[in-house]
Amino acid sequence: MSNFNANWHIQEVLNEVTKGVIKTYLRGISGHVAEFGTMTGRTAEAITSAVAAAESVYEKKLPRMGVESRSVYLFDSFEGLPEATEDADIRSPIVASGVWGPGTCLGISPEQLRAACSKHLPNERIHIFEGWFKDTIPTLDERIEFALVHVDCDMYASTRDVLDGLFSRRQIAEGALLYFDDWDCNASRPDLGERQAWSEAVEKYSIKFSPSHAYAAVGQAMIVHDYDGFTR
Ligand SMILES: C[S@@+](CC[C@H](N)C(=O)[O-])C[C@H]1O[C@@H](n2cnc3c(N)ncnc32)[C@H](O)[C@@H]1O
Repeated sequence: MSNFNANWHIQEVLNEVTKGVIKTYLRGISGHVAEFGTMTGRTAEAITSAVAAAESVYEKKLPRMGVESRSVYLFDSFEGLPEATEDADIRSPIVASGVWGPGTCLGISPEQLRAACSKHLPNERIHIFEGWFKDTIPTLDERIEFALVHVDCDMYASTRDVLDGLFSRRQIAEGALLYFDDWDCNASRPDLGERQAWSEAVEKYSIKFSPSHAYAAVGQAMIVHDYDGFTR
């Protein structure tokens, strides 16, 4: 009898994003929480419920720390994955196999996502952006910064669009946690997927960061310290 539990991976991802949200409060990182890639709504709901839990458990402490209540920003095409057009996606074994193909990973609707998340936080603290990241990120209020970003959009080009959008607009806070859900997909090849997109962003925006930890089957968390044009 094997000890393997098919749910361990998703359970670990849910625990990770939950712990990540709690860390943003206890580390005094300013800003809100964002997820890029909502699909089933499972991680979005875990994130939303962690925000509610942290603000209830640390109700007295947070105002003294100067930490304000956070909102959750959720982004998805609600059409599944885009077509692979960039070399770093076309060469990916998971893309070539068709597992990551146009329209795969299609999940729940924006209305269903809101219904799941609003069990935990009031509607005005849940912001849903429907469309391709490259089109929706520029519609974000530039004053918003993020303490935690869950990058769960599988592909190189999608990750590049998220990183370009947020770093060029200086929307990543000092000490922010970036969670890359698909970091070690493609046999951990550095020239594909989220790894390639991150190396390019580090170079382009002179990002100073610390790798924090690996999690679940293929995830990696980073801490962002500083980057080009970031002012405290
Ligand atoms: C693996 S799923 C996310 C899983 C999700 N976190 C969950 O808990 O079920 C990837 C998601 O990213 C979205 N996505 C990928 N690239 C995108 C892009 N460029 N713009 C918008 N959505 C994108 C897909 O629609 C899909 O829902």
